[in-house]
Amino acid sequence: MDIYEVIRERRSIRKFKDEPVNDEVIKKLLDTARLAPSWSNRQCWQFIIVKDNDRKDHISRALPEENPARKAVAGSPVVVVVCADPSDSGIHEGKEYYLLDAGLAMEHLVLSAHAEGLGTCWVAWFEEQVVKEACRIPENYRVVALTPLGVPEKQPSPRPRKELDQMVHGEFWQGNYM
Ligand SMILES: Cc1cc2nc3c(=O)[nH]c(=O)nc-3n(C[C@H](O)[C@H](O)[C@H](O)COP(=O)(O)O)c2cc1C
Repeated sequence: MDIYEVIRERRSIRKFKDEPVNDEVIKKLLDTARLAPSWSNRQCWQFIIVKDNDRKDHISRALPEENPARKAVAGSPVVVVVCADPSDSGIHEGKEYYLLDAGLAMEHLVLSAHAEGLGTCWVAWFEEQVVKEACRIPENYRVVALTPLGVPEKQPSPRPRKELDQMVHGEFWQGNYM
């Protein structure tokens, strides 16, 4: 699978088969997250791998009932929690780059999971304190996102995307490129 195919075919997966994920594969995915670029190469991220059913339940209760990923978090074989220390990254003109650092690492993991035949779903709508309690995360870390990880029950159809001409400009805001 080349990188274009991985990007094209990846979907958010919210239903998983009842099959474990091999630790060697999890480590391979984490290694791609480790290689992500970051502010000043500070690598401000930490990853928590959760397999314990009670802990996954606890984490799922951090998601509001309306969050479509709530059941997936409790029902997947593995949950990966991505945290970052904001003071170990940069802030420039009010933009906090720890969010980008951790997001890039997470996306590396998400894309390589797909290349391994595994499903993920970015989850960022949750009550952070509940996830912190469930995983005993230190006060100075922020929980940036988490994802269930497992073998997808099915490949959902693609969600719509805007066209390039709705987002690309040539030379300046008013200019045409496409
Ligand atoms: C930063 C971020 C936060 C997200 N949070 C959630 C979430 O809390 N719950 C959920 O079900 N999906 C969440 N998603 C997944 C998006 O809904 C999904 O990526 C989008 O609908 C496009 O679908 P696709 O990923 O299948 O292409 C999140 C995605 C991103 C990038």
